[in-house]
Amino acid sequence: MKKNVLVLGSGGREHALAYQLSQSPLLGQLFVMPGNPGTGTLALNLSGSPESGQDVIRAVEQFDIGVVVCGPEAPLAAGVMDAIAEAPLDVPPICIGPNSSGARLESSKAFAKEFMERHGVPTAAYRSFSKDQLEEALEYLEQRHPPIVLKASGLAGGKGVVICQDHPSAAQELMAMFAGKFGAASGTVVVEDFLEGVELSVFIITDGRDYLLLPEARDYKRVGEGDTGPNTGGMGAISPVPYATPEVMQRICKEVIEPTLEGLRRDGIPYQGFLFFGLMLCGNGPYVIEYNCRLGDPETEVMLPRMQTDLLSCFVALGEGRLREVEAVTDPRAAATIVLVSGGYPGDFERGKEVRLPAQVPEGSMIFHSGTRLEYGNLLTNGGRVLALTSLAADAAGALEASIHLAEAVEFNGKNYRRDIGRDLLPGSDSSAHPS
Ligand code: AMP
Ligand code: GLY
Repeated sequence: MKKNVLVLGSGGREHALAYQLSQSPLLGQLFVMPGNPGTGTLALNLSGSPESGQDVIRAVEQFDIGVVVCGPEAPLAAGVMDAIAEAPLDVPPICIGPNSSGARLESSKAFAKEFMERHGVPTAAYRSFSKDQLEEALEYLEQRHPPIVLKASGLAGGKGVVICQDHPSAAQELMAMFAGKFGAASGTVVVEDFLEGVELSVFIITDGRDYLLLPEARDYKRVGEGDTGPNTGGMGAISPVPYATPEVMQRICKEVIEPTLEGLRRDGIPYQGFLFFGLMLCGNGPYVIEYNCRLGDPETEVMLPRMQTDLLSCFVALGEGRLREVEAVTDPRAAATIVLVSGGYPGDFERGKEVRLPAQVPEGSMIFHSGTRLEYGNLLTNGGRVLALTSLAADAAGALEASIHLAEAVEFNGKNYRRDIGRDLLPGSDSSAHPS
């Protein structure tokens, strides 16, 4: 039976989710709340706040929604999935996203670290301190070898991590965090050891018992080429990742994913939806840098187009307790995503620049909208990250080249992007081999 689907969110990740869902033979009607001009070409964009249980439940009732898929973390942390579960609906929808207790894996880094320690999931040595423990925290800092990583425990829009190169700067940063640098999110700070290695983003869909592994990705966070300049929400991504060999992925399943799901069960935390493992692959194996209770952005834009298993059939199987029957089929081609950002981002930037898209998008490439809006039929920039451009090709070099080509063809004032996404991993470059 066909299902009407509601996607929550408004970025490039949600456009990629909508795109993938729109290909499904199981899809009835597609809705996105609030969506963007890109999702508007595939779905009906609904007004309302994805963080409001009331707005979401109203849409579920009005449009006979069978599946709710949450893109960002904020609605999950705010308890939107809990609200749906508690609502007196005749036929409750399948919820893709955990309730607020499962979302704590992302919304509280202190909780996530305790969880990993308790369940033997490899992670950097750490301690958490609340702002009334300044003395103790400073003492602990002194005992650690720099670089020292300080993390605001709460949600800080991906900006709450600071890597300090020496003791004085770590102490200064800690005091700034306690003083409210990241608002309430840094009222508790996780102090952890620096891990040397290569990063990898791994995603699963799970019902808390079984799981389906999605294509892995590598995200490029720094604004400048050669990984320079400040951190952003993500300037691009590639998939597959050459050092994520079958052996490495198998270790990740056994040492990270399965102990995490087992831990959730032991703690009595129900979990269904996506789970994103931000990993550091070190010489002696994988370590968890962070959990996210959602997919990544821009990783989704690079990874979902490689997924050949019908996404909606996975969601339906999950809802019916049949996830273990689903087989993950992945496109062997490589994908590269380049994010076009506004000039000045991640610092101050202007919105409202007119965006001109090429009349034709080449076969194998796609344009996902991140921060755009329509005004009297004109497409305007409306965020730091404006568009995510994804291309599929036989190899990573070809995919990158096609995305650069598309990036050149899009025009807006102040357009900025990185031309080196994935270039460090191309055959022949130094870091293309597995670190160990
Ligand atoms: P997060 O917001 O937790 O993803 O952290 C942002 C970035 O900080 C990560 O992508 C890593 O590059 C870096 N990072 C976080 N924790 C560590 C760590 N323990 N060791 C080294 N780098 C880290
Ligand atoms: N690109 C990293 C994230 O979505 O958290």
